[in-house]
Amino acid sequence: MTYDTMNETLRSLILGIPHPLANLANAAALLWEGLDRLNWAGFYLTVPGKDLLVLGPFQGKTACIEIPYGRGVCGTAAAEQLTQVVSDVHLFPGHIACDSASASEIVIPLRRGKGGPVVGVLDLDSPEKNRFGEEDRQGLETFAAILGESLPDDFPARLL
Ligand code: SME
Repeated sequence: MTYDTMNETLRSLILGIPHPLANLANAAALLWEGLDRLNWAGFYLTVPGKDLLVLGPFQGKTACIEIPYGRGVCGTAAAEQLTQVVSDVHLFPGHIACDSASASEIVIPLRRGKGGPVVGVLDLDSPEKNRFGEEDRQGLETFAAILGESLPDDFPARLL
């Protein structure tokens, strides 16, 4: 599936749905269905008032539950508020190996509203090295922005 198609599908999936957890779960399923060569796709969400990520909706194998900001690829993306594209996770200092099949990874900060605070990250893992490039970064940053704009002002306070 192209990113244009996936992002349009996401828009129609979440349009008018006031249930952020359901929307994140469907978003993870859409990524899993629409992209190839993945072994994990989903979200870690920021615990309000803490520099800590907690496992959110995802597809793939069971994963680690808590990731402090600054740790691993997810924690780095959250702390630096910048997308991380890692072509070989074994070369990334502090990479957290939830699934030993993971070889490359992309993590995009998830912001609430239009450019609001970081409320989590979108994480995709692949069993192939160099799976994610510039097209993926752009497509997934748009995906995260669409989702972020759908999140209510109190997200994720009433979930975690
Ligand atoms: N590898 C990630 C941890 C999350 S799992 O891949 C699902 C990291 O280093 O942050």
